[in-house]
Amino acid sequence: MNPDLVAVTALVSIALFVVGLKRLARIRTARSGNALMAGGMLLAVVLTLVEQGGIDWRWIVGGLGVGAAVGVVVVVRAQATQMPEIVARFNGYGGAASALVALSLFWAAVVESSSATSALDALGPVAALTGVLSVVIGVTTLSGSVLAELKLRGTVGDGRIPVRSLVMGAALVGALALGVLSVTTSDVLTAELGLAGLVVASLLVGVVLVVPIGGADMPVVISLLNSFSGLAAAAAGFALADPLLIIVGTIVGAAGLILTQIMCVAMNRSLLNVMIGGFGGDVAADTSDYVSITSSDAEEAAMVMEIAERVVIVPGYGLAQARAQTAAYDVAKALQALDIDVRFAIHPVAGRMPGHMNVVLAEAEVPYELLYEMDQINQDLPQTDVVVVVGANDVVNPAANTQPSSPIAGMPILDVATARRVFVIKRSLSPGYAGIKNELFDLPNTTMLFGDAKEVLDQLAVELQQVAKR
Ligand code: TAP
Repeated sequence: MNPDLVAVTALVSIALFVVGLKRLARIRTARSGNALMAGGMLLAVVLTLVEQGGIDWRWIVGGLGVGAAVGVVVVVRAQATQMPEIVARFNGYGGAASALVALSLFWAAVVESSSATSALDALGPVAALTGVLSVVIGVTTLSGSVLAELKLRGTVGDGRIPVRSLVMGAALVGALALGVLSVTTSDVLTAELGLAGLVVASLLVGVVLVVPIGGADMPVVISLLNSFSGLAAAAAGFALADPLLIIVGTIVGAAGLILTQIMCVAMNRSLLNVMIGGFGGDVAADTSDYVSITSSDAEEAAMVMEIAERVVIVPGYGLAQARAQTAAYDVAKALQALDIDVRFAIHPVAGRMPGHMNVVLAEAEVPYELLYEMDQINQDLPQTDVVVVVGANDVVNPAANTQPSSPIAGMPILDVATARRVFVIKRSLSPGYAGIKNELFDLPNTTMLFGDAKEVLDQLAVELQQVAKR
C-alpha cells in the first residue's frame, strides 16, 4: 500500500479519535463524538489489516461482521443501568485483543519459525519486551474485567485474600519472569510453556486485584481497567511498530486514568483507598438511632409542591435502579404545567458510573437545559421551596461537611438541607453506597416518602396533573 496513503489514513483516524473524545465532554455533542470515534476505530482496523497484508479479505470482512454483531447484540439487549457491566466487558475484550496480538507475534517468531532463534533475536528487544508487557497488562485487564462484571451483576461477592500484596507481587514477578524466559529461549517447548505460564500468572494478577474491592467501588476499578486496556494496546503497538496503535492506546490509557482520578477526587478518596477494598457495599449502618423521622405520602407532597415557586429534583442511584427516569420527567412536566420552575440537580458521582444520571435522564428525553451541575445549583438551594431527592443518599448527606471521621468527609455534596422543604423518596432508612447514617432524614424540614422511586413518582405525577386540571 502507498506509504503516503497509509500515513494520511492513519492521521484521519487519529484526528477522528481526538475530535470525538473532545465532543464526548459535552452532553449535546457526545452522541456525534461517539460516532466519530467509532468511525476512527473502523478506519484504523481496516487500515492495519490491509497494511499488514497477507490476510485474506474474507477473514477481514468475517471478523468485522462477527465483531459488529457481538457489539450490536450486547448493547441492544442491555438496559441503561447495565452500562457499567457492558463497559467492563468491552474493556476485557480490548485487553484480550492486545494480548492475542502479542502472543501471535511470539508464536510466529518462535513456534512457527523454521530457524531455531529466540523471540528476542527474531523481533528485537523493544518488540520482545513490549510484547510481554502487552500480554501481562492485556490478560490482567481481561480477568479483572470479567470478575468486575460478575461482581456488578451480583453473581460473585466480595472476597478476602490473605497476604494479598504478597500474592499479587508473586504473580506479577512470576508473569514477568516467565515472559522473559519465553522470549529468550530458542527451545520451542520451553517458549510455549513459558507463554502459557505467563498467561496463567497474568490471569491471577487481575483476579487478585479485583476480588476484595467492594461491588460499589467497581466503577473506579472499571475505569482503571479501561486505562489498562489502552496501555496494553499501546504496548502491542510498540511490539508491532504500529504508530496508530501506540497513539490510540495512549489516548485510551490517559483518558481512563484521568477519569479514575476524577472519580476519586469527587468521592474524596485516594485510588489506594479504593484498591485496598472494603469500603461501603455490605457495611450496615445503625439506622435505629434516627430520632425524629417524619414520613408522608405523594398526596401531601403534591399539596406542598403545587404552591411552590421553585422545585429541584435530585436523582440518585435509586432512580436508575427503579428505572424511574420517565416518571421523574412526568413530575417535572406536571410542575411546569403549574408554572413552577423545576430543575434537576446532578451530583458528579450520583449513581454508579460517571455521567450515570445524565445517561438515564437522557433516556427519558429530559431536556439538557433542565440539568444543573452541583456547583451551579448549590447556591440556589436556600431559595428553593421544595427539593425532591429521588433514590439519592450519600450525595446529599450533610455528614460529608459536619463529621470529619465520616467515610465521606470532605466529599462535596448537594446541600439540599438548606432548602425550605425536602422530600426524600426511598424504600427504607437503609444506607447508600457508603453504608452510613444520613442525618438529613432527621432534620425538621425533611419528610420521607417511603416506597419504590417509580411508584412514588408516578403517584406524585398523577396528583399534580389533577391539580392542573382543576
Ligand atoms: P447511594 O448513596 O448509593 O444511595 C442510593 C439510595 O437509593 C439508597 O439509599 C437506596 O435506599 C435507594 N434506592 C435503591 N433502590 C431504590 C428504589 N427502587 N426506589 C427508591 N430508592 C431506592 O446513591 P447516590 O446518592 O447516588 O450516591 C452514589 C454513591 O456511589 C456515592 O457514595 C458515590 O461516591 C458512589 N460511587 C459513585 C460512582 C460514580 S462515578 N457515580 C462510582 C463509585 C462509587 P433504599 O434501599 O432505602 O431504597
